[in-house]
Amino acid sequence: MDKPSFEQLIKEDRAARESKRWRGTLLEYLELVRQDPSIVKLAHGRIFDMIMRHGVIDMMESDDPRVKRLYKDESLKVYNFFRDEFFGIEKTVSQIVRYFHSAALKGEESRQVLYLMGPVGSGKSSLVEKLQRGLEDLDPIYAIDGCPMFEEPLHLLPRHLRKEFEKMLGVNIEGDLCPVCRYRLKTEFGTRYEEFPIVTRSFSKRNRVGIGVVPPVDPNNQDTSVLIGSEDISKLDLYSEGDPRVLDLNGALNVGSRGICEFIEVFKNETEYLHAMITATQEKVIPAPGRHGMVYVDTCIVAHSNEAEWQKFKADHTNEAILDRIVVVKVPYNLRLSEEVKIYEKIIRHSDFHAHVAPHTLEVASMFAILSRLEPSAKCDLMTKLKLYNGEEVVEKGKTKKLDVHELRDDTKREGMSGISTRFIMKALDNALSDNVEGNCINPINVREAFINMVKETELPDDTRKTYLEFLQDVLHKEYLELLEKEITKAFVYSYQEQAESLFQNYLDHAEAFVNKTKVKDRNTKEELQPDEGFLKSIEEQIAIIGSAADGFRQEVIAYLWAASRRGERVSYKSYEPLKEAIEKRLMSSVRDISRIITKARTRDEEQSEKYDAMVGNLLSNGYCRSCVDVVLKYAANNLWKD
Ligand SMILES: Nc1ncnc2c1ncn2[C@@H]1O[C@H](COP(=O)(O)OP(=O)(O)OP(=O)(O)O)[C@@H](O)[C@H]1O
Ligand SMILES: [Mg+2]
Repeated sequence: MDKPSFEQLIKEDRAARESKRWRGTLLEYLELVRQDPSIVKLAHGRIFDMIMRHGVIDMMESDDPRVKRLYKDESLKVYNFFRDEFFGIEKTVSQIVRYFHSAALKGEESRQVLYLMGPVGSGKSSLVEKLQRGLEDLDPIYAIDGCPMFEEPLHLLPRHLRKEFEKMLGVNIEGDLCPVCRYRLKTEFGTRYEEFPIVTRSFSKRNRVGIGVVPPVDPNNQDTSVLIGSEDISKLDLYSEGDPRVLDLNGALNVGSRGICEFIEVFKNETEYLHAMITATQEKVIPAPGRHGMVYVDTCIVAHSNEAEWQKFKADHTNEAILDRIVVVKVPYNLRLSEEVKIYEKIIRHSDFHAHVAPHTLEVASMFAILSRLEPSAKCDLMTKLKLYNGEEVVEKGKTKKLDVHELRDDTKREGMSGISTRFIMKALDNALSDNVEGNCINPINVREAFINMVKETELPDDTRKTYLEFLQDVLHKEYLELLEKEITKAFVYSYQEQAESLFQNYLDHAEAFVNKTKVKDRNTKEELQPDEGFLKSIEEQIAIIGSAADGFRQEVIAYLWAASRRGERVSYKSYEPLKEAIEKRLMSSVRDISRIITKARTRDEEQSEKYDAMVGNLLSNGYCRSCVDVVLKYAANNLWKD
């Protein structure tokens, strides 16, 4: 198909927009409502419907075994509206949705502020922005023509007839005309309110339609006009006192009408500000500037700030009344490795960052971020905790570690509320790149360097700095070397996967014969053989199963795999985590010498060169680039196989 021309694109877009545009009278609007009463919505209901329209799935529907392991006892929902942009904060998201749900049902929540509290860079602003973008994508709403607050047209209906109209239309009518519309009705239409023009308006943050934003205000200039608008001084001479034509209802609470009003770093504002915010939610009215009485407002107030501000605010008992009117939703950092990686992939995708990203780079960076956020536990070390939180099985002394993730979580106080932010990590990735401009590539090695430098330079309490450096120089260093060795082994071993499978099959045959005290039938010669204990041991010793422990281990393996295959699962060398680890280590040790010699060699003979080139070729096809292949192999030579 031909690419559309610019003209075509523009025309089609215009046509699509115009088809949604509508203009008529209140009388005509009433007909529209009769046909589809769902066009009448209050702000919270609109946002709730917007979220739900995208669908919900149950966390357990995922076919990732790690997710199943992590969430088996919770019935956590995943909302598609947020799913592609927010990772690892499903609980937070579902609390936000719960707020909108009960607010949509006009529960107490519809008269409370939604307040997101969390550490820097945990996604608070992004969550609110997502809601705002969602509104902008909605079809336009119907509003009274010329109303500075885009009022619901049904406000034009006089009180005494509303019951009747509610019955005829099947909707609730809430709210009153703003002073500007009231004036216009009186002067232009008299009693013929049904002729008042109605139009459609689209939500727009930039045009300040249905989306208002209140930035933290300069404490020396606490002018409430930011919230509720002002009187236009130049018009004060023209009109008499109390004439609504002098009103500029362009405060954030005015323009946020029917949608969202966002308060950034809310508790930096004076209490006076907060009172207007609270009245707006609680009473659904705000004062009009000057002497113009109160104005009805239907908006969903979302505020956010960090924990320190919240604690300070909470400690002041004069704020009690306000505290009672706030629904607090914590937005902690994500603590799942796989999800943290997705965060950086997303940020990079949306940025101008175009360098090559070597395998495991974001993984290592994410590990650092998460380690810094975890609280120590007496039950395991932090790296183990990180893996358990990621839904992985951790093997210790030949057994999968039996530690309950929920219990680990319950032991913590404020895990996820402190540590290193997403922004810090992104800055380190940028720094790593600017240190390697000619390579145009970031890799775990230069990123770790960048982290170390940043930690040294950043203002941090001494013990925090010490802990971070330990993570980087010790824990992550070791972890990465393990990853790297596995990777190089895979690149060295011809058809790694098949070799692993064949070791696995052999192990099973011999272990089964051993356990059942039978013989092993050779697959080729059909000869009956004694189980080869030497071979079994050569695998088991890789994970420190020696002596009498071997019997139990063999029985466990057989029982586990038997149960798995009875459940209909396809059994592979990866099925039983301890055995998988043993097999991988066995493969690694089988090529350790040769990879060391070949990688470190200054000169290689023909056979060695061939092997080396094949290994490099494999790494390249596994996602490395020319630059990082060199870097990681040099790193391996210096660190992995020290002489
Ligand atoms: N769990 C997450 N899932 C997806 N993206 C995230 C997550 N946490 C943080 N981010 C991303 O990190 C960046 C910083 O987030 P954001 O600016 O929303 O944080 P914030 O909580 O508002 O921080 P601050 O308190 O400094 O204002 C954004 O690009 C955001 O999308
Ligand atoms: Mg923010």
